[in-house]
This record gives sequence, C-alpha cells and structure tokens, in this order.
Amino acid sequence: MNRTNRARLDIRSIDEITGSRRLRRMRKADWSRRLVQENRLSVDDLIWPIFLTEGEGREEPIAAMPGIFRYSVDLLPKQAERAARLGIPAIATFPNIDMAKRDATGSAILDPDNLINQATRAIKEAVPEIGVITDVALDPFTDHGHDGILRDGIILNDETVEQIAEAAVLQAAAGADIIAPSDMMDGRVGAIRDALDAAGFQHVAIMSYATKFASAFYGPYREAVGTGGLLKGDKKTYYIDPANTDEALRETEQDLSEGADMVMVKPGLPYLDIVRRIKDTFAVPTFAYQVSGEYAMIKAAAANGWIDGESAMMESLTAFKRAGCDGVLTYFAPQAAERLRR
Ligand code: PBG
Repeated sequence: MNRTNRARLDIRSIDEITGSRRLRRMRKADWSRRLVQENRLSVDDLIWPIFLTEGEGREEPIAAMPGIFRYSVDLLPKQAERAARLGIPAIATFPNIDMAKRDATGSAILDPDNLINQATRAIKEAVPEIGVITDVALDPFTDHGHDGILRDGIILNDETVEQIAEAAVLQAAAGADIIAPSDMMDGRVGAIRDALDAAGFQHVAIMSYATKFASAFYGPYREAVGTGGLLKGDKKTYYIDPANTDEALRETEQDLSEGADMVMVKPGLPYLDIVRRIKDTFAVPTFAYQVSGEYAMIKAAAANGWIDGESAMMESLTAFKRAGCDGVLTYFAPQAAERLRR
C-alpha cells in the first residue's frame, strides 16, 4: 500500500505501530536465521522402529508404509550397521510372527527364542554399540490382536502384567537395553522393574509408553505386524481417550513412580500438547512416537505431489523438539539422518 493510500485510510506509520520493532530483521538471511534458531534436530534424537519377519532373506514391503520393510533376522545386521553408520543411537523392534504361533494368550512372547529375542541377539552380535529397545506388548503374539489376555470379552489386567514382566526378563536376557511396555495395563512398569531387578537386570532401562491414546493413526502398523485383520473391537478399555490430558499426566506420574526411566507419548504430532505438559511438569526424559499413520500421511501426500515430503518430514521432526521431546521414534529415522548429514 503506498503512502497516499495509507494517509487516506488513516493508518499510522509501521514504525509507530510496531514501536520500531521489526521481527523480520533476523529472518533476512540464512546466516541470521541459523544464529537465532531455537531448536535443532540432531541424529542423536532419532530412534528407528524396525519391523521383523520370520524366515530368511526376506525384505517385505508394507503397502501402507511406502519405503518401509519387514526384515528377516539374517538381514538385520546390515540394517543395524546402516543405522550405526548414520549415528542413530537406537533401534526399536516390532515382530510379525507366523499366524500359526499366535494364540489367545500370546504365549509365544514367553519363548526365549521368539522372533523379537532372535532379532535382539542378531543386532547386538553385529553392532554391540547400538541401543536395542524391545516392545513388550502381547498384540503381535495373540490371535485377536489385543495387547492383553482376553477372556469373555475382557482384557485381563493382572494376568497380562505377570506375563509381560516374564517376557521382559527374556528380552533383557537376549540383550535388550531398554524394555518398552506399550500395552497400558495398570501396574506394568513396577512389575517389570521388580522382575528385571530380581533377575539381575538392574542396568536395563524402562521406556514407558506412558500416554498411549486409543488412536486411528495406528492402522498401517497393524498391517505391518499382521494384527489388522485379527483385531475385533477397539482398545478403548486400556488406551487413553484422545480427548484427555489430565489423565495423561496421571498416567505419566504413575509410571514414573513405578520406576520408568523415560516416558513416551504416542501418537506424536497430534499430541504435542501432551508432550509439552509432561516435560514442563516432570522434567524427565520425554519421547514421542511419530506413528505409522503419521508416516503414511506424509508419504501419501508427497507421492501425490501435494506436499514436499522431505521438507514435511524435517518440519514434523523439528516440531517434536520444539514441543519438548528429547527424542522421537520415527520410521523416517534413516532418511532424516541422511538429510541431517548433508
Ligand atoms: C501395540 C502397538 C501399537 C503400535 C506399536 N505397538 C498400537 C496398536 O496396534 O494398537 C503402533 C505403532 C505405529 O502405529 O507406528 N502394542
């Protein structure tokens, strides 16, 4: 708008309006933007969730997650070496076990030689310096896809906790550095801590999925681990209602009091307000899981040419840092690490 028009509209000069403050001054060049940047994503913030499959020489694509594969155990060392070379601190494993091994109670989670434990051994043998985080929920092992033992339509809390505590010890024995319970049963963190300590695994940490919401964004993951077709009903009797935030704080406080070393918010981007509240309230190591549906949305829009996928990836990961995350579980980990190197 030129001066004449402004005079006619009776608008003060911009310097009068802003009191001579000009926030654009520091945005004027790349060097000044870099100087004042408040949050910076680093490769040290990334945890790579990786899917496992039985058999040998298998690298199976997942339709709803373009660019993501399930790997058989023999192919894991190569992936772990890639992660280590990129500087990614840790891998989190998620198994897709044979349907024939799934049953009502998820008993295969108690097999010391199940897919998840085989994978930990293979990764640790090949790349001992990379962190291994194992998920200790029943859902990949049950024939109904729920995270707990199901009887008469009810998910049994205490029986489930006993079983996952036992499974956590097996995972630690296989070499897991961090046990990550993702089932939302009450009392699981304390039970796992007791079981680990009693078995001599005081040094093994617990990353609690403290605030896991009953979300629609887990769809592609269920294809990846083969629970999508099995699951009847929903997980609302054990995951948190997406409308709640005080409840998320209570869950976090509870898990910390039971011995969680790190807490996680899941899903990620739609729940950054929860991350911020947790970080401000408890000041503990706080993580978020950019889940399968979040990954799929960015990939799908990018594949259609509707957004720049790589920019959206970096922007979303930076948003986690801004919200207060110490790190992010993301399927983008290798791609983001490569981008950060450039
Ligand atoms: C269940 C579990 C889920 C995810 C990891 N473990 C959710 C579910 O299937 O209900 C989701 C991960 C993702 O969507 O990326 N214990």
